[in-house]
Amino acid sequence: MALDVQKIRQDFPILKELVHGKPLVYLDNAATSQRPVQVLKEIEDAYLKYNSNIHRGVHHLSQKATEAHENSREVIREFINAKSTKEIIFTRGTTESINLIAWSFGERFCEKGDEIIISAMEHHSNIVPWQMLCERKELKLKVIPFDDSGTLDMDAFQNLISPKTKLVSVAHVSNTLGTVNPIEKIISIAHENNIKVLIDGAQSAPHFKLDMQALNADFFVFSSHKMYGPTGMGVLYGKEDLLNELPPYQGGGEMIETVTFEKTTYNELPFKFEAGTPDFTGSVGFAAGIKYIETLGIDSIHAYEDELLKYATEQLKSIPGLKIYGEAEMKSSVISFMVNGIHPFDMGTLLDQMGIAVRTGHHCAQPVMDRFGISGTVRASFAIYNTKEEVDTLLNGINRIAAMF
Ligand code: ALA
Repeated sequence: MALDVQKIRQDFPILKELVHGKPLVYLDNAATSQRPVQVLKEIEDAYLKYNSNIHRGVHHLSQKATEAHENSREVIREFINAKSTKEIIFTRGTTESINLIAWSFGERFCEKGDEIIISAMEHHSNIVPWQMLCERKELKLKVIPFDDSGTLDMDAFQNLISPKTKLVSVAHVSNTLGTVNPIEKIISIAHENNIKVLIDGAQSAPHFKLDMQALNADFFVFSSHKMYGPTGMGVLYGKEDLLNELPPYQGGGEMIETVTFEKTTYNELPFKFEAGTPDFTGSVGFAAGIKYIETLGIDSIHAYEDELLKYATEQLKSIPGLKIYGEAEMKSSVISFMVNGIHPFDMGTLLDQMGIAVRTGHHCAQPVMDRFGISGTVRASFAIYNTKEEVDTLLNGINRIAAMF
């Protein structure tokens, strides 16, 4: 179904803001998307009508808030077609989800000399937690290289695998290059070798249809704030059997069954991994963001954003001296570029003066910049409310800035 993007834009009041007197053109969606009124209303209702601590009270408000929180878990389970809500762990976001697995999986399954494989196009949040694990347990970190187009070298991946490899952790979509990685293939090769797989879905969950039972990843992580929901909320999906084997990451209320000074026993899934008062307004907002996506239809969103990416790529390529970083065959919603050596910071600052919001710098992926021998790029990233007219505004802005230098 074709989407009515002008109607969708009405749901996002922030898009009517003026920036430096110019209409806002928001092209920093890979960093965080905007929130529609539907999501804000759900969060407001939670605070105004049934705010209470959850899983703890017998009183009406607590029960209502608990129900809302657990319903949100079910909305997320359904969205990614997980088998059970026990497999949906609420976290503060993708970063916390990866840290949780790096700690708990490392504690349970890794010993000195074991190996973890990541790729060279990972966000720092899918590098540093593994480096910390490697340091703590004396493991080795191996890195899958990518070619000039930003495509992973799958032969190199196979060669990195050894009997010591315990886990592979890769991004579904690169936040810098926009590459869509062949995760189905990565998962099947890893599983043939008895290796577990974590997929960082931060940049794919807002754009792609996901099906955990078909994909068969062991862990899949993503964040609410890139999916039209609130900040500080995310999910760790994990296969139930595997999560049952892992020790808890944090201790506190909620995650226990019984506590004595001699011994504590832990709660069942998913609560074992959710120490402390859960962010129930966050989960309600997260589910509202997902419902917003579902109302539009994820396939329609995907098709529209794909068209926008293709249009933007063609248009940007027409600018003399503009180089795109990341030209893999399969890409999603992100274009990184440089123009005639103009420093990304200068380009970003001047675009901002025209009301255009892009991200500049290394995008929390310094190894990607090192691979290309640059310090940073300008990155435009798209969401469902962006339009071809906004791409044209970006194009005009870049041309004007290029003429100034
Ligand atoms: N991970 C986010 C980005 O790529 C913050 O901008």
